Amino acid sequence: MRVPVLVTRASFPDIVDRLRADFDVTGNPDDTIWTQPELIARLQGKTGAMTTGSERIDATLLDACPQLKAVCNIGVGYNNIDVDACTARGVIVTNTPDVLTDTTADFGFALMMAAARRISESEHYLRGGSWTKTGRYDMFVGGDVHGSTLGILGMGRIGRAIARRGAFGFDMRVIYHNRSQLAPDLEESCGARYVDKETLLRESDHLIVVVPYSASSHHAIGATELKQMKSSATLTNIARGGVVDDAALAVALGEGSIAAAGLDVFEGEPQVCPALLAQKNVVLTPHIGSASVATRRAMASLCAENLIAALGCGPTPGQPPT
Ligand code: DGY
Repeated sequence: MRVPVLVTRASFPDIVDRLRADFDVTGNPDDTIWTQPELIARLQGKTGAMTTGSERIDATLLDACPQLKAVCNIGVGYNNIDVDACTARGVIVTNTPDVLTDTTADFGFALMMAAARRISESEHYLRGGSWTKTGRYDMFVGGDVHGSTLGILGMGRIGRAIARRGAFGFDMRVIYHNRSQLAPDLEESCGARYVDKETLLRESDHLIVVVPYSASSHHAIGATELKQMKSSATLTNIARGGVVDDAALAVALGEGSIAAAGLDVFEGEPQVCPALLAQKNVVLTPHIGSASVATRRAMASLCAENLIAALGCGPTPGQPPT
């Protein structure tokens, strides 16, 4: 009998077909969002699962699905998975780092630029038919990106890719704060200088948040931190909802204590804090940081390889797929 696995969300058909060569695959072609009891019911008897950030894999679920041996998540972030609970039960957890680094860095940069140069706000103005007078000198003036100070909170792969874009592409002074300082050669390779968090907040013209979500990064940017930023600064969050206090950010945007924000992730997404929706000076996108065709394929493909390797149906981890 072939090993039974669950693919929790709709995915590239050819990649799901590749899994069918090794596994008895139950998919979700209609892309239904299952409740937790529905997810548990569908995982009954399954040895592996290909999951996304939409599913919560916690101790209760694991205890209800004792045959589960591997949870392979599509995405670099895995805060939806209780890794300790998985480890304690011998369940392998994998993610899809590296393949999305540059695409997500591109997106973070785009969102930051859109916020700084007021692209969404001015597009709404134009589409709404308000552009009746051309050439007004102060129409949608924003902050410059080139030559300004780029701050990065969280200096993993994506943070470093953003730093390179800023330092070498846009002539920016790049400062960062991270749990630990990078080795000098790594700092040099991305043109960034380590500072404490207060300096990061105080000196950044454009602050991008790329830190993974955890109990210790919860509301790393809240009312207190927002007050420390320049009133001309922008804040961009491409990490996870919850790292930024969205309600406090809405207040800061409304009061003008920072100039603008770009958000791809939200606390409680797909719900978005109504107070944020009410602000004009924020660019909002539905968690699409890694959403280029090539990268989404690469993520799904790596996830499938991870599942095959984790369940011992293919090359061992570390061996390049053939
Ligand atoms: C990731 O890779 O973590 C993206 O945010 C998609 O979930």
